[in-house]
Amino acid sequence: MGFKDFNNNMESITIFIEEDNGESKSLEIPLGVSLSLMEVLKGEGYPIEATCGGMALCATCRMEVLNQKELGIDCINDDELAMLENLPCYTGKCRLTCQIKISEELNGLRIKFPIEIPAWLQ
Ligand code: FES
Repeated sequence: MGFKDFNNNMESITIFIEEDNGESKSLEIPLGVSLSLMEVLKGEGYPIEATCGGMALCATCRMEVLNQKELGIDCINDDELAMLENLPCYTGKCRLTCQIKISEELNGLRIKFPIEIPAWLQ
């Protein structure tokens, strides 16, 4: 029996934001809010610009998602993939958080702010 099997009637999920110093902060998110991960993180005060407002056009909402395969949330739509593949920092782990809707599947999600690429490398 897996972790998810114990949580059939979840009212909230918990995600983890990993810091550069190796620590991680947990964030509880209520289900049924109809928001994207970007909107939740912005609402919590994380420094996400999201200049395009969630249209998959700016990539300023990108985060590294450390366990997306494990959680089965690695299906990326064409618009998101096209944007991500054009980034110099694309590693296959980055996602646009504006394209990730809050759902039960995100319970246990581990994310990390991407390492900034110096301008001279872009
Ligand atoms: S907010 Fe612009 S790509 Fe996500």
